[in-house]
Amino acid sequence: MRNKWQAFEQETGLSVARDVSLRRFSSLGIGGLAAGAVMVETAEAIKKVYAAAEGLAIPVKIIGGGTNVVFTDAGFSGLLVRLGEGFKKIDVQGNRMTAGAAVHLAAIITKSMEAGLAGVEKLAGIPGTLGGAIHGNSGNRDYWTSKAVSAVTFWDARGNTLKTLPAGQLEFGYRQSLFQKIPAIVLSAEFSLTPAPRENLVAEVNERMHYRSATQPVGRSVGCIFKNMKDRSAGQLIDEAGLKGRAIGGLAVSDIHGNFFLNDGRATFRDFEELVKIVQTEVEKKFGTHLELEVEIVKEQSATAKGPEGAENAKTENRSLRRWKVSGEGNFV
Ligand code: EPU
Repeated sequence: MRNKWQAFEQETGLSVARDVSLRRFSSLGIGGLAAGAVMVETAEAIKKVYAAAEGLAIPVKIIGGGTNVVFTDAGFSGLLVRLGEGFKKIDVQGNRMTAGAAVHLAAIITKSMEAGLAGVEKLAGIPGTLGGAIHGNSGNRDYWTSKAVSAVTFWDARGNTLKTLPAGQLEFGYRQSLFQKIPAIVLSAEFSLTPAPRENLVAEVNERMHYRSATQPVGRSVGCIFKNMKDRSAGQLIDEAGLKGRAIGGLAVSDIHGNFFLNDGRATFRDFEELVKIVQTEVEKKFGTHLELEVEIVKEQSATAKGPEGAENAKTENRSLRRWKVSGEGNFV
């Protein structure tokens, strides 16, 4: 009898890599195995993947640059989907730029500088792909992806349709977007840019890159672990709670920035969970503030376990797992 992966391959015409280590799909370098992984090149292929996965009850997780996702030691029992070369195009026409979801933000910024167009340069230094940046509305303290993007084209799993919506209808907020709420995959986005002297753009990018390298550590991390409060930086609270350098197993709170955890190569998800708990507890004790996770944890499919965020998170997780695994650093590598 055919197993479900063979059936999936036959239905989609795609080849599935089996038992793939998740470590290389998260910049934190933690995680067990994904039962299957596949690369898609067209919107049509995405459609087929979701149709086949639904029929065969295979959970699907779209992954982008992996710079904001944390995998568990148990891994992922479903199918990891990545967007390939077909989603890596950038096109500039006058003041409008269109980019595929798998394009890295850095490439978009470089292209806009070459074209002498302003509007994305303030995102300089943010790692990951456009799809992930839109999904999580990635940003700095004063500028977010949603400010740069004018419209997004996505595949909506609810009606099996392609849609394009203006940024104003995408429910963007601090590290939030519509794509965290609905089963959809960002395919491309449009930017409405304005002409600007190249040297100004280069200066802006250099300043931001310099600030990052002066204030953030280099190493295996997923950037900031916790969300900021309205008026306080989570990193500052962690720092003032005396937690810099605190380590569990192979994972430590960075000495440079309190909101970064660094993996020395040996860290496990258990280390992550424990360090999250310690930091939350200590900060709560000292400041009475609950730190909420900013990174996304991709739970094992059967997940009934409560994550560091507690029962409410587990409930939400289970709701979204009922159909697809929607998430992530979002979409695309
Ligand atoms: N601070 C400390 N100690 C620390 C870290 C920060 O005292 O260990 C202080 C800084 O001195 C500064 C303030 O806290 O006065 C803010 O620090 P920073 O400028 O580094 O910004 P942040 O609020 O910690 C946010 C984003 C980062 C983004 C930076 C730079 C969040 C959760 N973090 O960090 O985003 O790179 O601004 O614009 O919104 C990410 O999302 O992964 C991320 C790294």
